[in-house]
Amino acid sequence: MVKSLETPPVELLKPGVKAPVEETLLTPRFYTTDFDAVAKMDISAHEEEIRAIVDELKADYNRHHFIRDDEFKQSWDHIQGEKRRAFVDFLERSCTSEFSGFLLFKELSRRLKESNPLLSEAFEYLARDEARHAGFLNKSMADFNLSLDLSYLTKNRTYTFFPPEWVIYTVYLSEKIGYWRYILVFRHIQNHPEFQFYPLFRKFESWCQDENRHGDFFKALLRSQPQLWNNWKARLWVRFFLLTVFVTHTMTVFERSDFYEILGIHPRKYNTQVVTETNKTASRAFPVTLNTNHPYFFWYLEQCAINNQKLIELKNSKELGVVKFFKKIPVVMNIVWYMLKMYLIKPIDAEMTREAVR
Ligand SMILES: [Fe+2]
Ligand SMILES: [Fe+2]
Repeated sequence: MVKSLETPPVELLKPGVKAPVEETLLTPRFYTTDFDAVAKMDISAHEEEIRAIVDELKADYNRHHFIRDDEFKQSWDHIQGEKRRAFVDFLERSCTSEFSGFLLFKELSRRLKESNPLLSEAFEYLARDEARHAGFLNKSMADFNLSLDLSYLTKNRTYTFFPPEWVIYTVYLSEKIGYWRYILVFRHIQNHPEFQFYPLFRKFESWCQDENRHGDFFKALLRSQPQLWNNWKARLWVRFFLLTVFVTHTMTVFERSDFYEILGIHPRKYNTQVVTETNKTASRAFPVTLNTNHPYFFWYLEQCAINNQKLIELKNSKELGVVKFFKKIPVVMNIVWYMLKMYLIKPIDAEMTREAVR
């Protein structure tokens, strides 16, 4: 369980440095894993595919992409109020999650150097990309006179331990959902340039290709480990991870609907599209996917988000702690109930269709 992170005393923060937001279930997490177990992974079944992906990562197509051109060099003081708050919040969450990827990949690269040089090289390129992404977002925050103290985050954030199998499932999904989140914002802004209030969004097209490549690397890694897809246990785990990633995403989009509305994006439609596309993409790696076409699928998903909103309102209310606690119980039970109902919807067998999807 992740402990709540206390905001550091004000005197520890440098001017212009943003205090990290309070850590909750929905804030991006920092992960650690069993590095020795990853080192011992036998990837020979998909080594050729992994080598091809590593070559592509090495080619570094985006090495000139993350450059702040002239359009960034101006004052952004005209962005004020709710819009400024919502955008800075988006930058901070994105920067934290990119940075979390960087830390995990960097550590994997370092720990596998001797034992598994091919994987070590792959993780080095992944870390390079995520460092660029996080750095670019942090510079955007600097345009709003703020920056995240990344060294403070590194030292003081709680790290969650995930066994390598869980890391592979969740990182694969977070790279692919990241791809869809970025590309859908990019396409929307391309069609509606009047909503581009800051030049970051036009960078998303090539940016999301990095995430796509990262996802492909994790797909190859996953397929190289038959125990991650060829048995009933794996099928149950995959359904669980798809579900938790989609519930978390829906809760985040609903909680931050103001940000999407500022961009002229309809939050519900956006969430539905991100979830549907990510689920479809996941059929290339996972043995099963969720049935997003089930008539109640999105209704259940949104009920989880609506109940999460109730939890937030309760947390911010002025009621006594003990009253809050008892009011929380039925709301949490509702979320668990809807998640269970979704989990029990008959999944779609992806092994049968994989070759056709490819
Ligand atoms: Fe990234
Ligand atoms: Fe990535």
